[in-house]
Amino acid sequence: ADEIQKLRDRKRAKEHEIKDSILPEIAIVGRSNVGKSTMLNTLTESPNTARVSSKPGLTRQLNFYRCGDKFAVVDMPGYGFAFAKEEDKVAWKELIEDYLGTRKSLKRIYVMIDARHGLKVADKEFLTMMGTTSPKKFQVVLTKCDLVFPPDLARTYMVVQEELKKSFKNAMTDRILMVSSYTGAGMNTLRKDMLFACGQ
Ligand code: GTP
Ligand code: MG
Repeated sequence: ADEIQKLRDRKRAKEHEIKDSILPEIAIVGRSNVGKSTMLNTLTESPNTARVSSKPGLTRQLNFYRCGDKFAVVDMPGYGFAFAKEEDKVAWKELIEDYLGTRKSLKRIYVMIDARHGLKVADKEFLTMMGTTSPKKFQVVLTKCDLVFPPDLARTYMVVQEELKKSFKNAMTDRILMVSSYTGAGMNTLRKDMLFACGQ
């Protein structure tokens, strides 16, 4: 319980710090280890801004990064790591729901999905939770595309698109973005998409 209180205090401090944000914001969410922080580093073109780890669960709070002078990107803690403590999960859920549900400067949510796996149970649970928390639209991005053969990638694209159309009303289903932070593929399109979402 002490731990939860500590996390809540930290969260409040963080919110206070960023209360007067004037930049439009983009949120990056997704399963732990899907490559959110790496993608963010590629996007902001400044390596080592967001910390990256091969061990899931590295990012624990909301971290804000400016992307040029046009918008800010928010790196969020990943979901779905099995070994998380119960109280960590509760604090995580509160933090995410609070931010996604109430943040006014938040323009669009990007959900990162591993291109090798498509939508997993944890992803679907998260998208369901998001649907009840936030009316905002979300855009799905397939990550680590360098690890998947093009025909498999094309199949995953279709499957994910169908699942989104069927079950998640806030999903943007016209297209799904595909990126690799390692090769840089799709990054320009993603950046443009974010600028557009921010009204630029
Ligand atoms: P959490 O903070 O735990 O939620 O993880 P995260 O989603 O921020 O993942 P992170 O960026 O820390 O990357 C996890 C692992 O995936 C690291 O070992 C990265 O090097 C690797 N990785 C990230 N992006 C790519 C990519 O485009 N291609 C490949 N092959 N590996 C990647
Ligand atoms: Mg991270």
